[in-house]
Amino acid sequence: MAAKIVPISVLVEEAKKVFRDEFEDEADIIVFAPGRVNLMGEHTDYNEGFVMPMALPLATVIVGKKIDGNEVFIHTTSNFSEQKTKFEIPGKNALIRAIPRDGPKWAMYVKGVIANYIGEIPPAFKAVIHSSVPIGGGLSSSASLEVATYLLLDELTGSKGTMVTDKALACQKAEHDYAGMPCGIMDQFISFMGRKDHALLIDCRQLTSTLIPFKDENIVVLITNSNVKHELTQSEYPIRRKQCYEAAMILKKVSLRDANLEDIEYLRSINTDNNILSRARHIVTENKRTTDGAQMLKQMNYKKFGELMTESHYSLKNDYSVSCSELDTLVELALEVEGVLGSKMTGGGFGGCTVTLVYAHVAEKVIENITKKYKGNPTFYICKPSQGASIL
Ligand code: GLA
Repeated sequence: MAAKIVPISVLVEEAKKVFRDEFEDEADIIVFAPGRVNLMGEHTDYNEGFVMPMALPLATVIVGKKIDGNEVFIHTTSNFSEQKTKFEIPGKNALIRAIPRDGPKWAMYVKGVIANYIGEIPPAFKAVIHSSVPIGGGLSSSASLEVATYLLLDELTGSKGTMVTDKALACQKAEHDYAGMPCGIMDQFISFMGRKDHALLIDCRQLTSTLIPFKDENIVVLITNSNVKHELTQSEYPIRRKQCYEAAMILKKVSLRDANLEDIEYLRSINTDNNILSRARHIVTENKRTTDGAQMLKQMNYKKFGELMTESHYSLKNDYSVSCSELDTLVELALEVEGVLGSKMTGGGFGGCTVTLVYAHVAEKVIENITKKYKGNPTFYICKPSQGASIL
């Protein structure tokens, strides 16, 4: 059975209650930011290419309040380990806003965002963080925490003018500097910019985006969380980045965004290392699939769009080598069921989730098939494209 998704309004009430119990006070700032699933365009963001994610109804809620002094007090709910932390906020005139990178891992995202916040240094505050995004499950729990933190700081400082793309870049930098993950811009961008009933085609070079209507009663997006996480993402992700840069250097291009299939042929003709060649081939073909896919989705050609999703999976598996046996099995089991239009891994890889495009009336059948045959403990979510981050 698909998991029940807790509505944001309920998450808010729960967070407010924890705030009351913990701080014996009422929160007066409420923000939320969603997780995401990527429909197409995997690992293309840090190659200045195209991605097409959608925001999820799974989200991180933060309720908070400004306080006197120079300390931040945060309490999280059971989703995270080590539930309480406190740390000092940098002084008003601090030139460098570094905050010690100690304490629980989830707090790094909050600290990273404070350190990279654009504008005046935020005042001290107390807050409760509550999230329905599975932690570390490949649905951007970290980006949703960063983006929610950014909005909280906006409310605390009363800041208005910063452009959303700059906010997303600040959150991305927080993740680079404080979590040590050299991610692209996709997750933070979609968490800010997602819209209900739309996927978002993002041009990661221009940092512009196009809303793609995605609303059809007969079609759903089924997310299957393998609930496995091979720690390889942390080590392999930067390696993939390097391999892509190397390919671009050989081709004398700024990035693989500018490469095409002829360039791949050229790489082959000069006997380029096979890993470099196949990484480049994935990026070139994936960018094309993503822009084509956006057209297909716009035309409501779900059959063709689904086929592109499945092609993307096999490219990620064979050329980019970021899949794993659990994700491959989940994709294959989904594709066994008639009425499934396409299926692929989503996000960085090496565990996490698959995303499957399927006729609504068959979704439960897919879940049954996987539950029966998959030797693991997956979680299922049936999702529609949802609203991006917001102050409530
Ligand atoms: C992770 C990163 C994103 C993106 C995906 C792969 O989710 O955070 O920036 O690179 O992997 O598409």
